Amino acid sequence: MIGEDMIDLGGQVALVTGAGQNAGRGIARELARHNCGGVAVNDFVAERAEAVAAEIRETGVPAIAVPFDVSDLEAVRAAVARATAELGPVTVLVNNAGMAGPNQQIRPSKNFWEEDPSEWSKFLGTNLFGVFNCCHAVIPGMVAAKQGRIVTIVSDSGRTGEPRLAVYAAAKAGANGFVRSIAKEVGRYGITCNAVSLSSLMPDMPPEQLEQVMQSDHAKAQLSRYIIRRYGSSADVATLVTFLCSNAASWITGQTYPLNGGYVTD
Ligand SMILES: NC(=O)c1ccc[n+]([C@@H]2O[C@H](COP(=O)([O-])OP(=O)(O)OC[C@H]3O[C@@H](n4cnc5c(N)ncnc54)[C@H](O)[C@@H]3O)[C@@H](O)[C@H]2O)c1
Repeated sequence: MIGEDMIDLGGQVALVTGAGQNAGRGIARELARHNCGGVAVNDFVAERAEAVAAEIRETGVPAIAVPFDVSDLEAVRAAVARATAELGPVTVLVNNAGMAGPNQQIRPSKNFWEEDPSEWSKFLGTNLFGVFNCCHAVIPGMVAAKQGRIVTIVSDSGRTGEPRLAVYAAAKAGANGFVRSIAKEVGRYGITCNAVSLSSLMPDMPPEQLEQVMQSDHAKAQLSRYIIRRYGSSADVATLVTFLCSNAASWITGQTYPLNGGYVTD
């Protein structure tokens, strides 16, 4: 019907991890705009989570900050229990927390064989075990409610391989395989489970600094590999994720959607 919002969350309550900035913040705000019944805003950094929850409450949608480290299963469980008590059963989960932990920008550094093995766990903890933990904590409630949406943000590095980011790429590829498997377990309960695979997003920095970065030879060389010659935005990510979380996407599951400006075309 004309004027009706096709992308409707139907009043479901969402948990978005790593939602204190950038893509996660965009996702949390976009879900709220599309009839989300409440948003539990996670970030390892409590002030970030609280700021985004406050932005959402200002729009009239209930929201709470649930700061925790996704790699800490007990903390995840406690936060899901709190979100359920304060907002209602969590039937939308967006596994967005990623990278190497708080305030860690991923920069290709050493070859895998030159890396100290102590570096591995931070990638696996956030990008792989974090996804296990959040799914393990929310799926029983989704099964009981006989509805649910799980969207996990992965990376094209896990599909195509990325030198000097092997463990990060492995964690993302692992998360991708994991959610496809979970999709096959939970479909009978009305729960869908998909992944969105990103290439490079716009660096988050003040406009004048960004202008400099965009003029650099590095950025020009990088963007020459994209069919659409720009970095991705939080809005690009939030729009697709919100669609996959909506009632309109009830027949989409077990899929990985590349969102990458044509960086990879398969
Ligand atoms: N930025 C890119 O170019 C890019 C490319 C491919 C994939 N991705 C993926 O997209 C997602 C979002 O990326 P972004 O650039 O918006 O990230 P970002 O680093 O800007 O923000 C991530 C947020 O997650 C939080 N966080 C990190 N580890 C956490 C943990 N263990 N527990 C809870 N919170 C944690 C951080 O505090 C931060 O606020 C990530 O999963 C990332 O791996 C990003």
